[in-house]
Formats: sequence, C-alpha cells, structure tokens
Amino acid sequence: MTKAPLAAYPALRLRRLRQADWIRRLVRETVLTPSDLIWSMVVHEGEGQVPVGSMPGVSRLSVKDAAKAAKEARDLGIPAIAVFPHIDGAKKDAAGTLARDPDGLVARAVKAMKDAAPEVGVMCDVALDPFTEHGHDGVVEGGRILNDATIERLVEQGLAQAKAGCDILAPSDMMDGRVGVVRRVLDEAGFTHVPIMSYAAKFASGLYGPFREAAQSTPQFGDRRGYQMDPANAEEALREVALDIEEGADIVMVKPALPYLDLVHRVKERFAYPVAAYHVSGEYSMVKAAAARGWIDETRVVDESLLAIRRAGADIIITYFARDVARRRS
Ligand code: PBG
Repeated sequence: MTKAPLAAYPALRLRRLRQADWIRRLVRETVLTPSDLIWSMVVHEGEGQVPVGSMPGVSRLSVKDAAKAAKEARDLGIPAIAVFPHIDGAKKDAAGTLARDPDGLVARAVKAMKDAAPEVGVMCDVALDPFTEHGHDGVVEGGRILNDATIERLVEQGLAQAKAGCDILAPSDMMDGRVGVVRRVLDEAGFTHVPIMSYAAKFASGLYGPFREAAQSTPQFGDRRGYQMDPANAEEALREVALDIEEGADIVMVKPALPYLDLVHRVKERFAYPVAAYHVSGEYSMVKAAAARGWIDETRVVDESLLAIRRAGADIIITYFARDVARRRS
C-alpha cells in the first residue's frame, strides 16, 4: 500500500475529521453488524430455562426454547448459533459415549433449530468435555489425555452431528491432527459441503470458568494445559493455525478474544483466511459484573470490545452478547 505523505501541524489537523457524527461516520474504518456474529448458547435436557449464576442474562435453554431462539436469531439478522450441551452428570462416563449418540441432546437441538429456522446456521462443538465424567476433552489413561484415541471418538461425534443436520463442525479439543481426520471422514460419508471451523489457537485460559459452570464441564482432576495452548506463545499459535489450514479447516478461530487480539491480527495478516474470535464466557461475565456495579456502561463497553475484535481482523465473533448487540441494531 502506498501511503500519502503526511503534512505537519498546523496544515495537518486530524481532529477535522472528528468534529461531528456525520464526518466520523464517513471516515469510519470498521463496522460491527449482526452479520458478523455467532450467538453462543447452552442447551439442557429439561424444560424451561435455568439461569447460569456466573453469566447474568444467560440461561441454559430447553430444546424447545433453543428452537425459539433460532427464530429470534433469524429475525435479528444473526447468521448462526453455536450450540453447547449441558449433560446430566448421571449420563456421563469415562469415554464420553453420549457424544456420538445420534438421538442425543445436541442432535435433537440441531433438528429443532433447523426445523424452526432453516435459514440460521447451526454450529456444533466437536469435543468430549461436556460428556466425560472427568470433564476432560479426551480419552484418559493413567491421568494422561490420549491424542489419537480421542480423535477416533471425535470423528464419531462429528459424524453424528453432521447427520443430525449440523451446518458447521467446530473441533474445540486441541488434539493434534483432528481437523484432517474429521475432514476425511466427513468427505467419505458424503458431507463434503459441511465446513470446519477449527478452534485453531485455543489457549488454556482462566476466562472459561463461567462456561464450565454453564455446561458443567470443569475438569475433575488436573487442568487443560496438556492440550490447550500456553498463553505465552504466539509463534506456536501461528503453527497451530497453519496446521489446521493444511488439514482442511475452512475458518480458523482464536480463543479467547480480547487478550489475544495480537493473534487475531497476525493470523489475518499472515493467512488471509476467514478468522473467527471467541469472546468467551469470562469476557462476558467481567463486563456484566462491572456494569451491575455501575462501574462501566455495559452497552458502550460491549460495542467497543466487539468492534475492537473486528478491527484486529476477525471476520466472525462468537459471543453471548450476540442477541443484545443485534437488538440494538435492528
Ligand atoms: C472445551 C470448551 C471450552 C469452551 C467451550 N468448549 C473451553 C474449556 O472449558 O476449556 C469455553 C467457552 C467459553 O468460555 O465461553 N471444549
């Protein structure tokens, strides 16, 4: 890009372009619209809605309410919903068997949502953590999370999701090599049209706490640092992204969003690929908590935060604020 030579003050007065709303609008570089958003949502087996204590304004939804929410998303111009299951503790086991159940909660939620609003995309998480009694994203042996054995389970889960009508598969487990295997198995089964959004650079973050309450997926021993990334590492994150693209990911994700905007930017610059950023549960709850005390203006901070994620280079933002933001814009 060739840049215009800069004049010096007093010829150059940058404030000229900030003096009124009309001119600020004309020179605005980034916009945030409902079309940029994926609405993150937790579903449960029961009836009605169960508020999530650490996420004011977010409830676990019944399958029926999830279908209603899909219609709402359509009416608000939100293109897609990411659905996460809350599984009863009694139904979990060591291997996360229920993850591949063709009539399980996720499958039923996907079908209900697609029936209610076929125009709205539904994205499913390919990961075992909500289904395993130990809460880890994989098959555990001797306290270790086995990579390749986990992939075998993930493939079965992904296939069940595609068969249920899921529009995008999003492997969120961080096992090595899973994107390539999931892609191959989807293709062999005739699902060549189903895109993969990989959680490519997913960090071992303290900001997932509220989600783990919502989905009851807190690890029962240890932590996830053996598979999620070290927050200190950016070059490694770029390698993770490169690998997932080589394996066939259609969209790559950075997660969480705001503390990792350097990576959102670098991934966009380096790969020129569709980039998603996940504004995660802890990022949601921090805003809600401060706003509830009157310390910040929620609307302003949410709009500023999501706009900043877009400015950094994200095409797509996955957020629990999607409905609020879209309502303000419709
Ligand atoms: C793991 C998974 C996580 C989230 C969704 N799926 C991370 C984790 O618990 O380690 C977090 C989402 C959020 O915090 O909003 N498969």
